Amino acid sequence: MSVHKQIKKVTTHVLSEMKLKGEKISMLTAYDFSMAQIIDKAGIDVILVGDSASNVMAGHETTLPITLDQMIYHGASVVRGVERALVVVDMPFGSYQGNSKEALSSAIRIMKETSADAVKMEGGKEIIESVNRILSAGIPVMGHLGLTPQSIHKFGTYAVRAQKETEAENLIADAHALEEAGCFAIVLEKVPAALAARVTREVTIPIIGIGAGGGVDGQVLVVHDMLGINQEFSPRFLRRYHNLYAEITGAVTNYIQDVKSRNFPNEREQY
Ligand code: KIV
Repeated sequence: MSVHKQIKKVTTHVLSEMKLKGEKISMLTAYDFSMAQIIDKAGIDVILVGDSASNVMAGHETTLPITLDQMIYHGASVVRGVERALVVVDMPFGSYQGNSKEALSSAIRIMKETSADAVKMEGGKEIIESVNRILSAGIPVMGHLGLTPQSIHKFGTYAVRAQKETEAENLIADAHALEEAGCFAIVLEKVPAALAARVTREVTIPIIGIGAGGGVDGQVLVVHDMLGINQEFSPRFLRRYHNLYAEITGAVTNYIQDVKSRNFPNEREQY
């Protein structure tokens, strides 16, 4: 029987076992109690409380404005809805870069105040000191390489990363550095499929891809994107499993009509 079916609570060890057995890891984002409860009960392996909350929940252009307090609010809400999935909370921009002491205290706040299982951080060698410090406190860390949206102003574009040889070599070295530091998994975002497959073969920890092809150990999508709540965002890697935008618009239009026409509430819908 698959690891996925046997497990009551997904841990970082379960994810390593899934990689060893060649069983793909499923991961989605969530930012609130109700959505987390639905996707957990549906059997998702990992729930990421992504700093994409800055975009899809708060309507910001980038992930930079979201604060540590706001990530903790989203993280704690998600954890209250989850029984089985591993819950990972993104460390927001400014809570860990360039200062490993501050990184540790941010990670400790996330773990204490949300009861999540792990944190995620963007970057490679440049954040290793912070990663080491957080790991030394016994906090599991997921890395994030390739397109790292917190550095958007450095790169200036959301285009596919590591297409040139030197950038690809740097990415491979970063993946090894994160593995050696002790990260339990790495998200690899928007890189060529062949490079992602190579990284997946070279490191022993699970590689979870988004726009990184099928040769990785698992896949992650932003839940609003895959459910079709967002209309504007349609990169090539996104598969929409539903058109919730149209469903919600239809339901709300019907409700407005019923209210205006005095069809709602009817006799049975009142006291
Ligand atoms: O914040 C987020 O949702 C993410 C995923 C895109 C991996 O980091």
